[in-house]
Amino acid sequence: MIAHPTATHGLALQGKIAVPGDKSISHRALILGALSVGESTIHGLLEGADVLATAQALRAYGAEISRGADAVWRVNGVGVGGLMAPSDILDLGNSGTGARLLLGLAAAHGITSIFTGDASLRQRPMERVIIPLQQMGARFEAAPGGRLPITVIGTGRAIPIEYRLPVPSAQIKSAVLLAGLNAPGCTQVIEPRPSRDHTEHLLRHFGAEVTISSDDDGARRISLTGRPELQPQTVRVPGDPSSAAFPIAAALLVPGSEVTITGVGLNPLRAALLDTLREMGAQITEHNRRQDQGEPIADLIVRAGPLRGIEVPSERAPAMIDEYPILAAVAAFASGRTVMRGIGELRVKESDRISAMVNGLGALGVQVEELADGLIVHGHAGAAPARDGVRIDTEMDHRIAMSFLVYGLAAQGPVQVAGCEMIDTSFPGFVDLMTGLGARMEEAS
Ligand code: S3P
Repeated sequence: MIAHPTATHGLALQGKIAVPGDKSISHRALILGALSVGESTIHGLLEGADVLATAQALRAYGAEISRGADAVWRVNGVGVGGLMAPSDILDLGNSGTGARLLLGLAAAHGITSIFTGDASLRQRPMERVIIPLQQMGARFEAAPGGRLPITVIGTGRAIPIEYRLPVPSAQIKSAVLLAGLNAPGCTQVIEPRPSRDHTEHLLRHFGAEVTISSDDDGARRISLTGRPELQPQTVRVPGDPSSAAFPIAAALLVPGSEVTITGVGLNPLRAALLDTLREMGAQITEHNRRQDQGEPIADLIVRAGPLRGIEVPSERAPAMIDEYPILAAVAAFASGRTVMRGIGELRVKESDRISAMVNGLGALGVQVEELADGLIVHGHAGAAPARDGVRIDTEMDHRIAMSFLVYGLAAQGPVQVAGCEMIDTSFPGFVDLMTGLGARMEEAS
């Protein structure tokens, strides 16, 4: 991986690619494999640092996990309730998903685990999972502000709870459901606004009883029957729509481009970026649409063309939460304003993504307004500016890094992005894949 590449406007992007496996599904497939008795196989697992950190933690809990020469991953699980006490600290690196989901798992086992992560992850709020997991009977010792490092003293007698999510977050939902797997009786999570449902799909796939219903106020209620005997399964991981967002954006912005991205997961609770881009005038067509293990998948053909700014409906946020950084970059090339509100959650991701985009775009010469819960980007109706000598700081955030590299591919001048090592957390091979399409991304000499 190049650490500080410069992205430069070049020829049109052309070609057919597949993006790496879905990060959310990859974490969950490993975790549920580790809780089944027998051998599960995972095809298309994302081999990014985040997911590898989860695999490593699950090994410390006693699961056997290996990668075959055929790139198929095999997980020999310990069964629900069967985790062993890890003999060392679990380091989840940059991964909020890994940390929060595994805290859920650890909370409902009568063992003690210590979790930490990198400087970015140690800044992120963990109270959001600690609160419900305490209600289930686990005890926690956290760094000030409810942050990592955290010691969790789990309970072998977890109490099933009914928990209403205070923020739409698939990580909180999944932490509670994973703890509920080892609680007798029915654990229920109520989501006023639905978040990605991969945990529910995969729990069913591995044989757990999960029912989904709608409350009188329209909230989504997920009910899980605890202590199932999970059966080992084969999981096929679709391409990650959040990773596909970057080549999609590049193909839209670099004039004359036409790029095909095969096998992209299009779960409706993930794919709202496509709706937004289409409202902006993007030409993105779906082909070979199919359903695999409950997840809709399609090949996408993306053609460059002019875009116009829109106001993104804030209720759409959970279904494109990780795509706002790249949308903000795209908006700088559209005509008119793009207004993004209701995304305060972006401030507690791998970085404060609202200020990272506002600062980076502003430094490059884009007129951008920061709001408490969003941002407004004033588009340039064509190539966006790239002020000389600016070096974008990615703040240990893979999606900020990729967003500005894509920006640089279509901007008026080259854009240098520092700290691109973090891209490996979710999209190993990103620079090679993009250069294979004709993109110019090179280490500055
Ligand atoms: C994820 C949920 C989202 C998302 C993250 C992955 C998941 O986080 O931003 O990249 O796999 O559950 P929140 O649960 O904090 O919204």
